[in-house]
Amino acid sequence: MGDSEKEMAAQAVAADLVAPADRPLHLGLGTGSTAACFVDIVGTMVADGFRCVCVPTSERTHAQAAALNIPLATLDDLPELDVTVDGTDEIAPDLSLIKGGGGALLREKIVAAASRRMVVIADQSKKVAQLGAFSLPIEVNPFGLRATRLAIEALLPEFADAPAGQTGLSLRRNAARKPYVTDGGHYIVDARFCRISNAERLSNRLLEIPGVVQHGLFLNLCRAAYIAGPDGVERMGDFHT
Ligand code: A5P
Repeated sequence: MGDSEKEMAAQAVAADLVAPADRPLHLGLGTGSTAACFVDIVGTMVADGFRCVCVPTSERTHAQAAALNIPLATLDDLPELDVTVDGTDEIAPDLSLIKGGGGALLREKIVAAASRRMVVIADQSKKVAQLGAFSLPIEVNPFGLRATRLAIEALLPEFADAPAGQTGLSLRRNAARKPYVTDGGHYIVDARFCRISNAERLSNRLLEIPGVVQHGLFLNLCRAAYIAGPDGVERMGDFHT
């Protein structure tokens, strides 16, 4: 398991990319270790003549893609993308996701929502029957952090399908034990639900909290997934619609 499976999933989606006849493919580039495998492959494809213009979902991915001479644009230059390829922290059978383990969820969601198709690549460890074992990353404004935390905490009993002792919140910190700051200048609160009982409703309730900027539940955004395991790459959903 691990890197070779990430690589396999990235290779499989790259093989299915087709540029339109009359212009380069407008491609969103995700963030994280699996997406980084994909970006490396895109770099090789570009060197071999593949025509694409890419919008990165983080400063990290931007730096990687620029170093590979991948043509880059912003979402302001290209506000509608053909496809975005990104990793995930969890994927459920209905293609709903938890993302943001790498701290890039806000830009990832903005770019995915601006794309005709979002496609996920992952190793099979990311497949779950129900979302929530991975703590849900919630991007918050630093102003009023304690009030925002309290408001998020109040949602745990309703949406965590788990005993109270197993749920909770933690402020993400960097290696220096300082609050982790996202590319957008926000903090991240990681919420342990264990199992999320109603993701759609939880999403709405979180977005009603003024200090919540965005959360890592990606619902009705992912159209297809390439999940690599020891027996090959499983395709979920439909890449071509
Ligand atoms: C970045 O914020 C995340 O959403 C990543 O896409 C996700 O954490 C998957 O990362 P890995 O591919 O490194 O597991």
